[in-house]
Amino acid sequence: MADAVSDPWGDHLLTGNNLTNSRYRLLEYLAENEGEFVPGSALTDRLGFSRQALSKVVSALKEEGLDIISVPQKGYMIKNIMETDRISPTLVDFLLRDDPIFRKCIYFPRITSTQHVIKDLARQDAPEGIVAVTDEQTEGRGRRGRSWYAPVSKNLLFSVLIRPELKPGDVQLLNLAAGLAVRSVLAGGYGIGAKLKWPNDILVNGRKICGILSEAAGEPDRIYYAVTGIGLNVNFTEEDLEEEYREIATSIMIERGVTAPRPLLLARILKTLSSLIIDLNRPEGIAKLLSVYRNECDTIGREVSVLQDDNDFRGTAVGITEQGALVVKSDNEEKIFAAADVHHLRMK
Ligand code: BTN
Repeated sequence: MADAVSDPWGDHLLTGNNLTNSRYRLLEYLAENEGEFVPGSALTDRLGFSRQALSKVVSALKEEGLDIISVPQKGYMIKNIMETDRISPTLVDFLLRDDPIFRKCIYFPRITSTQHVIKDLARQDAPEGIVAVTDEQTEGRGRRGRSWYAPVSKNLLFSVLIRPELKPGDVQLLNLAAGLAVRSVLAGGYGIGAKLKWPNDILVNGRKICGILSEAAGEPDRIYYAVTGIGLNVNFTEEDLEEEYREIATSIMIERGVTAPRPLLLARILKTLSSLIIDLNRPEGIAKLLSVYRNECDTIGREVSVLQDDNDFRGTAVGITEQGALVVKSDNEEKIFAAADVHHLRMK
């Protein structure tokens, strides 16, 4: 267990305060027996709670959205864990219990932006691996200072704190890793064949299903912290969307016709992202990630228009550099874009 004196974050964020910890331990025990009643006495004995404390912790888990029933003489039963759609931070922590990086989820029903939350924590020396999730952002941010719109409680809106062994110029690699992670989960878990548009858009049939924003702080040769934010469109229908977004946005629900429970989806993405982030700490891991990205990126080989500082450069996207920048070749010159807005001009 973390030392609360030498590591002020250990107690609160990593192991949780008492109530958080109690929720986790109760969920763990109930989940071992999912679909069966566990007598109250077995819970109080094993967890060391009083009857009163047990009922308080059960209520707290129910408030998080977990499906727990209690029947006199029988005890407590949890059901439908993987179908839970409410963002229960205890459930997310439970689903991430073996993850090497992401272990602690903090949830806000409504917040300015999860990017702000994680940046604030990072500046206070919080450890890598914290995940901030919300159902509603009042100042949701997209790339290049744009705002990020999302219908309330329908999407995954989250940011993670990473402390990678990278230089600030390499931050684009985090966008590529996050894009690969989301794309892989959409394909493997939900049968959606999404495409990666450099640097960080994920599209299905030309409509956006996910946006990613990575920001970093550091010195020229070292990142202190990076914040990667992901907005993934999950459970909205076209009717849930404001008119102006209907042509340009899609969701898992629109593509598959069924809802996707968000805590499970979040845990799948984070687990996939973990292994890619671990790869980023080794040169051969970066080379592997770049090779996978170059193969999967739908921008490569296309005629593109790249908008940067009011200039429109047109050419063919021919490659991705070691730092994740886009290489575009026109008839008479080749340019490298570390960050820019790209438009695909023609189908491949
Ligand atoms: C883009 O495509 O422009 C990037 C969008 C990133 C949106 C996510 S939602 C969670 C996190 N919080 C924010 O304010 N932005 C990111």
